[in-house]
Amino acid sequence: MLTIDDKQIVFVGGKGGVGKTTVSSALALQQANRGRKVLLISTDPAHSLADAFDRPIGDPVRNIAPNIDALEIDPDAEVEAHIERVMRTMKRFSKPDLYPEIERQMRLTQQSPGAQEAALLERIARLIDEQPEHYDVLIFDTAPTGHTLRLLSLPEAMAAWTQGLLKQTERSKKLEGALEHLTPKAEKDIANPMADATQHEAAELDDRTAEMTNTLLNRQRLFQRTRRMLTDPEKTALIFVLTPEKLPILETTRAVAALRQEQLPITGLVINRNLPADADGEFMAKRRSQEAVYRNDIEREFSDLQRIYLPLFPTDLHGLVALQKIAEQLP
Ligand SMILES: Nc1ncnc2c1ncn2[C@@H]1O[C@H](COP(=O)(O)OP(=O)(O)OP(=O)(O)O)[C@@H](O)[C@H]1O
Ligand SMILES: [Mg+2]
Repeated sequence: MLTIDDKQIVFVGGKGGVGKTTVSSALALQQANRGRKVLLISTDPAHSLADAFDRPIGDPVRNIAPNIDALEIDPDAEVEAHIERVMRTMKRFSKPDLYPEIERQMRLTQQSPGAQEAALLERIARLIDEQPEHYDVLIFDTAPTGHTLRLLSLPEAMAAWTQGLLKQTERSKKLEGALEHLTPKAEKDIANPMADATQHEAAELDDRTAEMTNTLLNRQRLFQRTRRMLTDPEKTALIFVLTPEKLPILETTRAVAALRQEQLPITGLVINRNLPADADGEFMAKRRSQEAVYRNDIEREFSDLQRIYLPLFPTDLHGLVALQKIAEQLP
C-alpha cells in the first residue's frame, strides 16, 4: 500500500489544478492523526495552503493544527534574502571600490530567469538539511510539474557550479577565478589582484581566499546532503497527483520518466476526482465510461506504481473538516 508513515521527506507533484494542495494537506492531517509531527511547506507563489486550511499561513513557520506546522515560502522575498546574503559574502571578499560593481551585478541577477528557482532551492535545501531534527516528516506541496522538475534537478547543477568555482580558486590560490565568475566587469582588479597589493594586503587576500573556499565548500556539501536525502527511497517519497484525463496522464508519464532518470524515488500516484459510482443521469454515465478508458490507460501505463483513487466531491474542499474527509480515504 502507498504509505508515507516511514518517510521523512514527501514531495507532492502534478499538473496545475489536479489537487496537489488538497492531497498534501490531507496527507499532513493523516500523518498528524497518526501522531507524527509534520511540517507542511508550500513553494507555490499562489499560496493555496492558506486557502485549503481556511486560515492565514506564511513565513515564518506557524502551527495550524495539532501536530502540524506550516510554511508558505514567498519566492520574491526569498530572492531578496538570497541576494542580500550573497552580496554580504562577496563584499567581505572584495575591495570597497568594487562594491558599486557588486551591487550592480546583484541587481541584474535579481531580474534574471532562474533567480527564483535558485533562491527557493537554497531554502528547500536548508529545510531538508535542518528540519528533520524537529519534525517526523516534511511534506512539500510543490508548484506544477515542470517547475518542480527543475527545482529537483538543480542540486546537481548547483554543486557543479560550486565545484567549478572551487577548482579555479584552488588552481590560482587567489581570488582571480572566483571573482571573475562573480563580477565579470571588474577586469582590472581581477586580471591581477596582486598588482598593487602590499605584503599585508596579500596575506589578507590569502585569508579571504580560504574563507571563500570554505563558504563554497559548505554550500556544496549542503547540496550534496540534500541530494543524498532526496534520492534515498527509505527517506524520501515523491507522489504524483493526476486526474483520469488525457493531458494529466501524458504529463505524469513524462514527469515519472524524467524523475526516475534523476534517481528520485517515485512512491506512487493519487488519482483524484474520480466520478462516484452513484453519480446518475445519462450525462454522468457518459462521463464515467470516458473516465473508465483513462483509468485503464493509467493501470496499463503505471502498473508498477502504487495507486490511490479519490472521488470527486460535490463541492470544493476547504477547511479542516473537508480535508479530514480526504485524509480518511488515504491508506
Ligand atoms: N476530489 C475533489 N473533489 C472536489 N473538489 C476537489 C477535489 N480535489 C480538489 N478539489 C478542489 O479543486 C481545487 C483545486 O485543488 P488544489 O488546489 O488542491 O489543486 P492544485 O493541484 O494544488 O492546484 P495548483 O496547481 O493551482 O496549485 C480546490 O478548490 C479544491 O478544493
Ligand atoms: Mg496548489
